[in-house]
Amino acid sequence: MSLKVLDLAKRRKSVRKFSEKNIPIEKVLKALETATHAPSGANQQPWRFIVITEKDVKIRIKNACERGEREFYEKVDGEFKQWLTEQKLSWKKPFLEKAPVLVAVFMKKDAQYARESVWIAIGFILLALEEQGLSTLTYTPSKIQYPQLLLNVSNNFQLEAIIPIGKSEDNKPKAPKMTLEESTYLNQWGKLITK
Ligand SMILES: Cc1cc2nc3c(=O)[nH]c(=O)nc-3n(C[C@H](O)[C@H](O)[C@H](O)COP(=O)(O)O)c2cc1C
Repeated sequence: MSLKVLDLAKRRKSVRKFSEKNIPIEKVLKALETATHAPSGANQQPWRFIVITEKDVKIRIKNACERGEREFYEKVDGEFKQWLTEQKLSWKKPFLEKAPVLVAVFMKKDAQYARESVWIAIGFILLALEEQGLSTLTYTPSKIQYPQLLLNVSNNFQLEAIIPIGKSEDNKPKAPKMTLEESTYLNQWGKLITK
């Protein structure tokens, strides 16, 4: 039996090259509405979102994020540096300007299980956008204070991610994933599941 959500999860992949063509804002709002139904610690719903469509705001966010990324990339080394190089990742974040819509996701810092809850909501958003034929990236700025300052965010909230959204122009293959059998045991650690 095929599950719709499984098909969507299989189809989803992070995309870093976007068409600049506009997308219907309603689709983004539907995805955010989906997120508002996510579970959260003590139902505190510690997420807030800013939907960003204006070119000049996107450019300012890109510049603020790239400032932090340059500082981060100067310091990074070892295995992580190698992985970043293999992935052809650098301090440049053109998708923050190119993607027609950005959604900045914030977490209420003093809420119960705030981070866990916000990230479940982010998962809902990614799949809801995938269902509507839109691609995404889960971008976590290296220095959140620069974009945070720019967006005039309340002190109780912290930027968790920026999700660029649009039509993909990235033809990279889907990243390899562990199989169910590799990641899941039955009843006790190490006992394999056989389907
Ligand atoms: C918590 C989290 C943080 C991430 N941060 C970044 C990021 O800052 N920049 C980026 O290009 N990708 C980021 N990603 C995307 C991952 O690199 C990507 O999900 C991973 O390589 C697997 O690829 P896939 O999403 O195509 O399955 C992040 C993903 C997650 C879940």
